[in-house]
Amino acid sequence: MARLKGQTAAVTGSSSGNGRAIALALAAEGAHVVCSDIRKSAREGGYETNTGQDTDDVIRANGGTAEYLDADASKAADVQAVVDRAVQAFGRLDVMVNNAGILNAPHNIVDETEEEFDRTILINGKSVWLGCKSALAQMRRQDVVDGTRGRIVNIASIGGLVGLPLAPAYCAAKGAVVNLTRQLAVDFSAERINVNAVCPGFLHTAMLRPLLETPELNLALRGTTPWPDLGHAEDVAKAVVFLASGDASWASGTILTIDGGYTAS
Ligand SMILES: NC(=O)c1ccc[n+]([C@@H]2O[C@H](COP(=O)([O-])OP(=O)(O)OC[C@H]3O[C@@H](n4cnc5c(N)ncnc54)[C@H](O)[C@@H]3O)[C@@H](O)[C@H]2O)c1
Repeated sequence: MARLKGQTAAVTGSSSGNGRAIALALAAEGAHVVCSDIRKSAREGGYETNTGQDTDDVIRANGGTAEYLDADASKAADVQAVVDRAVQAFGRLDVMVNNAGILNAPHNIVDETEEEFDRTILINGKSVWLGCKSALAQMRRQDVVDGTRGRIVNIASIGGLVGLPLAPAYCAAKGAVVNLTRQLAVDFSAERINVNAVCPGFLHTAMLRPLLETPELNLALRGTTPWPDLGHAEDVAKAVVFLASGDASWASGTILTIDGGYTAS
């Protein structure tokens, strides 16, 4: 039984990697997906098998429904347009996934430029704040259906829970996403809106390819992950579907690690 039948979901950064897998998984559960990104086609260097086809096209080819909006997740008007699109088409926004993000080349804080810091905080941190703000303004106006007014899933990182080597701005931004998620759960649980986050470990996506293809860094990522394999975008997508569905109806402020045991060790 499709867990999101008749629901509308919006995903930021949906053209590649995690966002793409999340959009496909939500659609496979019956949701109409508003895909959004700053580029319609998948990033080069991803591990998807069908990067020649855009996410919304794959969804339709699989029998689902989707549309695509060019939207920069770090711009308020663009994020609002994504939410508005869902509402115009379907009258409500059931699921908002704030996924878009970037990772700089490894460096310590001494070598990090202010520009790198500002850009990382903007795209990995403020974008989630904007996505939550627009989605919550809409969701609190919606009727309760199956126990909720809507569900938000933020994509944080293990870097929001522990320090990762040579990623100062990234960890600062992801830490902000983790605690913003908890804060919003405190403010909006009473209104029956679920706000939760997923913290993935090291995954095969275009974002990590430069590290995965550097032999000593690859060894380090594998060496610090207890599970014998690194993760895939689909592992994250399954967790997002869980948090977006009625299976997680009482989950609020949950920070779900999907990391092959990284933060357990
Ligand atoms: N790959 C990992 O190992 C890993 C681990 C933990 C968390 N994450 C998080 O998962 C999320 C997705 O990462 P990924 O690995 O799929 O990366 P990716 O680089 O493979 O894909 C990111 C997508 O986001 C889009 N994007 C970038 N900036 C954007 C913006 N301003 N507005 C809208 N879209 C934008 C890109 O165009 C791209 O399609 C990020 O938040 C990342 O921090 C990734």
